[in-house]
Amino acid sequence: MIKQEEMLFTGGSGLLGSELKKIFPNASYPSSKEFNVTDYPGLEKYMESKAFKLLFHGAAFTSPPLVEKDPAKAIEVNISGTANIVKLCSKHGLKLVYVSTDYVFKGDKGNYKEDDPVFPVNKYAWSKLGGECAARMYDNSIIIRTTFGPSIFPYEKAFSDQWTSRESVGVIAGMIAKLIVKDATGVFHVCGKRKTVFEYAKGLDNKKDIKKISIKDMNFKIPRDTSLDCKKYKKLIERIEK
Ligand SMILES: NC(=O)c1ccc[n+]([C@@H]2O[C@H](COP(=O)([O-])OP(=O)(O)OC[C@H]3O[C@@H](n4cnc5c(N)ncnc54)[C@H](OP(=O)(O)O)[C@@H]3O)[C@@H](O)[C@H]2O)c1
Repeated sequence: MIKQEEMLFTGGSGLLGSELKKIFPNASYPSSKEFNVTDYPGLEKYMESKAFKLLFHGAAFTSPPLVEKDPAKAIEVNISGTANIVKLCSKHGLKLVYVSTDYVFKGDKGNYKEDDPVFPVNKYAWSKLGGECAARMYDNSIIIRTTFGPSIFPYEKAFSDQWTSRESVGVIAGMIAKLIVKDATGVFHVCGKRKTVFEYAKGLDNKKDIKKISIKDMNFKIPRDTSLDCKKYKKLIERIEK
């Protein structure tokens, strides 16, 4: 079992990283200045005289509309940055946990399993899949495909025609925490039940007045149904907790 002190997290200031910090308070969470994933020599320097065993890579350029406007930055952070992280893990013998997205799937069928074919429909998802490619080349790794949001739904409108397995970030962080300390490798879907984004938003706070909106109203492509099958994750956790 890996100890908290042996864990290094990227993306510690982000939505998911902030929740993981509550679960693993004694792990290391360098800022993006101290540990900029696009600066490989800087990453090496940070590793000097440190003895980590696991690197959780949650840092990314995460806004799909901003990635559409600035794909070069997404290539730099999400693809090259993840490749740097994989090289670092390989050199220092660290286990890698890479956080990917349900958006790697085309979204035309839903209930996707880990080995279903991937085909992103927007540039953010292509960049996350680029990161997956690097992570897949490193055997001592876990790739987590997931989807989450803040515990309070941040918008006044929610898609009633987009299907998802999204859960609030606290729920997903708890599920991820159980997985990363285990002796597992490979791809895992970590998620909740299939529902529309509107149902998800109402599930967070039924009293909140949320209007319905369509994915067709957006000026960038949003996959229709990227709900995930997370039986593989559940089976592993059930087996371990027995
Ligand atoms: N939110 C979702 O619905 C969702 C769904 C599926 C997968 N994911 C994935 O889950 C992970 C976490 O997402 P999130 O929503 O928690 O992210 P977030 O809140 O947008 O935070 C992004 C994090 O990445 C860091 N970062 C950005 N560029 C960096 C760089 N060059 N070097 C080092 N750190 C850098 C940021 O640091 P600064 O604050 O210093 O900029 C921040 O800590 C991401 O990999 C994302 O792709 C998210």
